[in-house]
Amino acid sequence: MRKASVLLDRDFTIGRTDPRLFGAFIEHLGRCVYGGIYEPGHKTADKNGFRGDVLALVRELAPTIMRYPGGNFVSGYNWEDGVGPVKDRPARLDLAWFSTEPNTFGTNEFVDWCKAANIEPMLAVNLGTRGGDAARNLVEYCNHPGGTYYSDLRKKHGWEKPHDIKFWCLGNEMDGPWQMETKTARQYGAVAREAAKMMRWIDPSLELAACGSSGRTMPTYGQWEDEVLDETFEHVEFISLHTYLNNYNGDTAALLASPDLMDSFIDEVVAIADAVSAKRRSSKRIMLSFDEWNVWYRTRRPRANRIKPGWPVAPEILEEIYDMADALAFGGACISLLNHADRVKAACLAQLVNVIAPIMTETGGPAWRQTIFHPFAQMSRYGRGDVLRTRIESDIYDASYYDPRGDQDLYYPVKAPYLKLSAVAGEDGKSLTLFALNRDLKGEMQVKVDMRGFGGMKVAVAEELRHDSLTAVNDKNAPDRVSPKRLEGVTVADGAVTMTLKPASWNVIRLESSK
Ligand code: AHR
Repeated sequence: MRKASVLLDRDFTIGRTDPRLFGAFIEHLGRCVYGGIYEPGHKTADKNGFRGDVLALVRELAPTIMRYPGGNFVSGYNWEDGVGPVKDRPARLDLAWFSTEPNTFGTNEFVDWCKAANIEPMLAVNLGTRGGDAARNLVEYCNHPGGTYYSDLRKKHGWEKPHDIKFWCLGNEMDGPWQMETKTARQYGAVAREAAKMMRWIDPSLELAACGSSGRTMPTYGQWEDEVLDETFEHVEFISLHTYLNNYNGDTAALLASPDLMDSFIDEVVAIADAVSAKRRSSKRIMLSFDEWNVWYRTRRPRANRIKPGWPVAPEILEEIYDMADALAFGGACISLLNHADRVKAACLAQLVNVIAPIMTETGGPAWRQTIFHPFAQMSRYGRGDVLRTRIESDIYDASYYDPRGDQDLYYPVKAPYLKLSAVAGEDGKSLTLFALNRDLKGEMQVKVDMRGFGGMKVAVAEELRHDSLTAVNDKNAPDRVSPKRLEGVTVADGAVTMTLKPASWNVIRLESSK
C-alpha cells in the first residue's frame, strides 16, 4: 500500500481563513436566478418569491459572501433596469448569454435574499458598456443614507435603510474578447481607478477588487495584472483571479492534478502584486479575490453548448452535471484556497444554483445537492481557523493537463503528490481539521499525521466522499448517490493520527481536544 506522512505544528501557520474565503456567485445567467433562487409560485416560495427548498440547501452549503449580478452579464447591465416597480422594469437582450433578461429580480431583491440566507452581498459594477458614473450612482443608491436623488430613490422603492454593501468588484474579466467592451490593461486600469475614486468618495468604507486576467492561460496574463495594479494600486484592496478546471480529454489523473496549477496561479499573482508594491517602496499588500472558481467543461465548449437560439428567458444553459471525479478535483481546489489563506482573502464558487452549481433544481420541482456540494459544505463548516504549514511526504505522479486557449491545444506539466492536504486549527484552539485528497485512482494510501502542539485529541468527525464509479452523479431520483460516509479506522496515538484513504477519495477528519 502507498504510504504518506505529514508533519505539522500548532505554532507554524500560513494564516487565518477570512470568512469571505467561503463565498459563492449568483449571475443573471440561465436558471441561476429565475427558477433557481427565485421562483414565485413555487410551492416552497416565500412572499418574495425566494425558493425555500433552495434557501435551506444554501444554509447547509454555508457560503459567506455572494457575488452578483455577473460575470459576463454585468458588462452590459443597467442596474436601474432592476429597481423600482416590477411592472415598469424593461426586458432587455442580454448579449452575454444571448437571452432575454426580464429584470423582475434586481439589486434590492438580491440584498433581501442575502439577508434571508444570512450572507454578505458583494456587488460587481458594469465597467464594460458603462463606467464610473453608473458605478458611483449605484453606490449612492445602495449605501448613502438619504437626502440625495439616488438614496431617496431607494427609499421610494421601499428600502428605507442603506444596504451598506462593502465589497465591490470593478467590472468582470475585462481582458476577455467575449466581454462587452473589452479593454486593454491600461484602458481598463484607468476606468477602474476613476470609478474606484468616485465610489469611495461616496463611501470610504468600500473594499474594491480590480479585475485580474480572466484566466492563467490568457495571452496577456501577468502583464495585465502588472499594468492594472500599476494604474489602480492606491485605490483597490484586491485583484481577482478566475479558474475553471476541466477534463475535456478524459484524463482524470490530470484533472485531479490541476488544482496544483491554482497554487501556482495564486503564487504568481502574489509575486506580481508584491512587485508592484516594491516598485513603490510601499508596505501595502494587495490581497487576492478568487472570485470565480469551479470545475467546468461539459457545457463550455463549443459555443453551441452554452447558447440557446431565440433569446429565451432563463434558458437551461451551463447546467453542468458533476460526477465523482469532478468532486475530487473540486476538493483539491478547496485545499489550494485554504493553503493560501494568508493572501486569498475572498473566493467565490461559481456559481450557486443550476449554472455550474452545487445545487440543482427543477423549475416547479425539487432541489438537490450535486457531488461538489459536499466538499464545499465541509470546507465552510470546518475550515475556519488557522491554516497550518505542513511538510508532506508522498509519492508524486506526472500529469499533463490540457487547457486549450482559443484554437490552441495547450498542455501544462504538473508533478502532483498523490496526497494533497490542508490542516486547519480551529479558532477555539481545541480542534484540528484535515482535508485530504487521495489522488491515486487505483490504490489505497496509509497516512500518518504527526500533530505537534496538539495534545489529547480524539476523532470527532471522519468522513469520506468516494464512489466505485468516478462517473457517478446525483440526480433528483438519487440525490444522495454521492454523499459523505463514515471513514472507518482513523486512530490517534502518541500525538499522531493514522488513517487509510480509499483510492480516489476526498476525506475530512476533525480532531477535537478530549480535555
Ligand atoms: O461563471 C460563468 C462565466 O465564466 C462568467 O460569467 C464569466 O465571468 C466567466 O467567464
